[in-house]
Amino acid sequence: MPAATATVSHVFTKEELCLMEKVPASCGIVIFGASGDLTHRKLLPALLTLSLENLLPKDFYILGVARSPMSDEQFQATVAESLKSLGMTKIQQDFAKHCFYLFGDYQDPQTYEKLRQRMGDLDAQYQTSCRRLFYLATPQVLYQGIVTQLGKMGFADSRQPEGWVRLVVEKPFGSSLSTAEALHSSIRRVFRERQIYRIDHYLGKETVQNILMFRFANAIYDPVWNNKYIDHVQITAAESAGVEHRAGYYEQAGALRDMFQNHLFQLLSLIAMEPPASMVADAVRDEKSKVMASLMFPRDRDWEDQVVRGQYEAGAIDDEVVVGYRQEPGVKQDSGTETFAALKVEIDNWRWHGVPFYLRSGKRLATRVTDIAVVFKHVPASIFRPLMAEQMSPNILHFRIQPNEGIFLRFEAKHPGPKLCMSSVTMQFDYEESFGIRPPEAYARLFHDVMIGDQTLFSREDWLELSWKFLDPILENPVDLSDYPAGSWGPKEADDIITRDGRQWQITSSS
Ligand code: BG6
Repeated sequence: MPAATATVSHVFTKEELCLMEKVPASCGIVIFGASGDLTHRKLLPALLTLSLENLLPKDFYILGVARSPMSDEQFQATVAESLKSLGMTKIQQDFAKHCFYLFGDYQDPQTYEKLRQRMGDLDAQYQTSCRRLFYLATPQVLYQGIVTQLGKMGFADSRQPEGWVRLVVEKPFGSSLSTAEALHSSIRRVFRERQIYRIDHYLGKETVQNILMFRFANAIYDPVWNNKYIDHVQITAAESAGVEHRAGYYEQAGALRDMFQNHLFQLLSLIAMEPPASMVADAVRDEKSKVMASLMFPRDRDWEDQVVRGQYEAGAIDDEVVVGYRQEPGVKQDSGTETFAALKVEIDNWRWHGVPFYLRSGKRLATRVTDIAVVFKHVPASIFRPLMAEQMSPNILHFRIQPNEGIFLRFEAKHPGPKLCMSSVTMQFDYEESFGIRPPEAYARLFHDVMIGDQTLFSREDWLELSWKFLDPILENPVDLSDYPAGSWGPKEADDIITRDGRQWQITSSS
């Protein structure tokens, strides 16, 4: 398909952008789960990225808390080592010197006594005015215990006028509506909503934030952003990786909890929401919650027909033979966990009534791609007969979240040759080509927002509860599991869910 490239009229220089960014005030960052994978693979690199971009305060400390005995020096060495292994060699020694370690059991009140002393010393050394960020990067079962202990020790309030205390919570936020409610209420007993930052790393992705810019910083899209012009929307989040070393967690979660309840529903909310009054956190989050409150299965069929669950079998990805899910280390041989799911849903409001949203996500699929395809209706009548309206391809707008980040619009154009010759072409905005940089890491954006106190890109309690409310019946009455070979696009039933409506998935191996 021929492609025309979009040009960018004003590119802010990196320096200009940095000037617009607020540098947070000095603070202390306490990470529970400091010896874990998330801390070393995502959190520390994100903090180093901010430091390299001068977006960390001059005075800051990172205090890691975990159950493996280690000294500050040993922790600093592991920090430097993990950053190096990720190719981050610049000033890592300096950065590592801001890192400290506290060894302790999360259940033991003594740990929190030691934490009080340690933070007291570090707050004085780095003049943080008791600005403290607590990050929960432990398994979810430990959250309630840690938060309760923080509450008992009086850590939820800053004792100094310019101080603040913020709590960052990683997903999963429960595993059902009732467990999510229980988790929320135990956290809310200690922290107020404005102190709580629930991370969904998809919201930190530049291309996800771009959905709002695209929709609300341009005048031409909103008039066609509705059921009069849009036929349907497809959201695909495909991964070629398998469950890797996370079977312990994934066996309990599965694709619906792991990807739909959070990331896919967030993408759906951003595509479907009404314009918020402003970019103030609650204005944006109010609109997203309204979308979740209107989410339903199409009424013309049983909801079981609108849900597909799949599990990968052995297969090949990029010519490499891979084992099936049940043969992965730590997975039960008769596991019923889905590694793939597809849903057909609708948003029952004035803008979207009658427009299906097809969602699918899975592991060990043909390739790694996250894409939102907004498929417009066919032209109402053809003036190019004998070519009929339905023979012309509809316009499709793709938000390519990753990789090859960008936005693409497919439209019909005159093809050189005979008078009625037509073909589909693509107008494209490629993130890297236009801005000359790779999109920044999601966690860096999110960390920075916590430090400056901006909750816009974090999930609010009501949105999460609405998403669980929608998912609960599907989880409680699971539809049969269908197998699919690793390296495919999921089970045949996932194609049926869309082809029986006379439509097809836009993202396939040939796209
Ligand atoms: C996580 C899920 O939230 O998102 C993982 O727990 C998944 O299972 C990951 O692999 C996908 O994130 P990304 O940014 O690679 O699309």
